[in-house]
Amino acid sequence: MRGRFITFEGGEGSGKSTQVATLVRRLTALGVAVMATREPGGSPGAEAIRHVLLSGAAKPLGAHAEAILFAAARDDHVTQTIRPALERGRWVVSDRFADSTRVYQGVLSNVDARLIARLEQLTVGDTRPDLTIVLDVPAELGLERAARRRGNGAGDRFEAEALDFHKKLREAYLELAGREPDRCAVIDATPAPDTVSDAVWAVVNARVHPAEAPLVIEDVAS
Ligand code: TYD
Repeated sequence: MRGRFITFEGGEGSGKSTQVATLVRRLTALGVAVMATREPGGSPGAEAIRHVLLSGAAKPLGAHAEAILFAAARDDHVTQTIRPALERGRWVVSDRFADSTRVYQGVLSNVDARLIARLEQLTVGDTRPDLTIVLDVPAELGLERAARRRGNGAGDRFEAEALDFHKKLREAYLELAGREPDRCAVIDATPAPDTVSDAVWAVVNARVHPAEAPLVIEDVAS
């Protein structure tokens, strides 16, 4: 039986990586064979493209090229990592997936919606997430947390622009989740991490039923 595919989405300071780690720990404790992965990245080819994208080297190429590079990374990630794991019955939890392209490239960088949809169709195909958890925090709080993590308490001259960007990001995620309520669950990520983890766990139990997952006998290569 195919494993379940869960993705986490959200803006800066929403706590995705903490929540991915906690969910994987809880699923493992329940006996579910699960792997954590991330985008951009998650396979050797995609990790190489990640460097090109996040270093800013691809920025001068423009938003379309960036969208295409994110798609190229996703194609490798799905083919090399996600699909084989799901086919072996493993669960996969990814820190970001195709919704990040819809929101960052589609909404914030105004890349043509038809291109985004076509790229998604080509790269994701029927390997769609069973559940997408959108961690929602007010833009101000997300930025404050991110600044604290960087050890940079004071805002800089780009603060206003950054705030506007993050407000739009939040709205775009909420709108996306509202359009696909069967797949997406919005969780308030304002409280302490443990409270958010409990909310995530409740949604995961209600929607994808990990307690009913069949035991997977891991092969040596996995
Ligand atoms: P990362 O360092 O992984 O940070 P985080 O996920 O904690 O924000 O950076 C990933 C960045 O790439 C993030 O700013 C969102 C962006 N991104 C896109 O613009 N499009 C995409 O399709 C993906 C997967 C990520």
